[in-house]
Amino acid sequence: MGKIAVFDSGLGGLTVLSELKKLMPGEDYIYFGDSANAPYGDKTPDELEVLCRNVCLKLLEADEIKCFVIACNTTTAKILDRLERDFPTVPFVGIEPAVAEAAEHELGKNILVLATTGTVNSDRLKERIDGLKDKAYFKALAAPGIVPYVEGFMPDRDSFRAYLKDLLKDHSRDTDAVVLGCTHFPFVKEELRECFDKDIRFYDAAGGVALRVKELLKSKGILKAGGNGSICFMNSDPDKIKLEERLLNEYK
Ligand code: DGL
Repeated sequence: MGKIAVFDSGLGGLTVLSELKKLMPGEDYIYFGDSANAPYGDKTPDELEVLCRNVCLKLLEADEIKCFVIACNTTTAKILDRLERDFPTVPFVGIEPAVAEAAEHELGKNILVLATTGTVNSDRLKERIDGLKDKAYFKALAAPGIVPYVEGFMPDRDSFRAYLKDLLKDHSRDTDAVVLGCTHFPFVKEELRECFDKDIRFYDAAGGVALRVKELLKSKGILKAGGNGSICFMNSDPDKIKLEERLLNEYK
């Protein structure tokens, strides 16, 4: 029947895998983090296509794949259509910042969308936010320092907290809710929370993606009934494979 393949520029997609596993514990998963090439946030569509094609080919070589989950907002915003064209026989599900869900719960409130530079500058996000302007006040802000911190390229937590405080200083008083528009960001929710004066609410799209994957598999008659499920971890940086396993287990 095949596995569900989940991939990201690195460790962030584990936050999506966690939701998939909760919703469909019996499925078999294969996870690929492209940490050796992270971050993806400021790469061009052509660069991303080369990297992600390579990831998809490695996954197809490793196992039978019934569905690709692009657990990366940047890749989804920039090249979902190209990947669907490049691999027409396997269905893709991408991820986009949970702006609609946030608007629904935060009517008339101030919502800050945090994402990578690539996602913030994408037409797709601009259009989505524009379509919701009658419901809530959105601001989008690129936070390019978060992915390198989560990937372990900037190991000092104090410098990271200082970076966040500075980045968010103009938003600390007015923000009611934050959309975590990059799959790496849920790992630093607590550090983010410290930067706001109010007790803010967070929104991320991982749960919604899991529901969409389940619907897709059901509609194709390939949803696994029962079973114990398994996860195979892969990473372009072999030193990160054990870390993927640990982070997934620790992530709530
Ligand atoms: N997790 C990716 C996302 O959701 C991060 C992209 C990056 O590596 O900058 O956008």
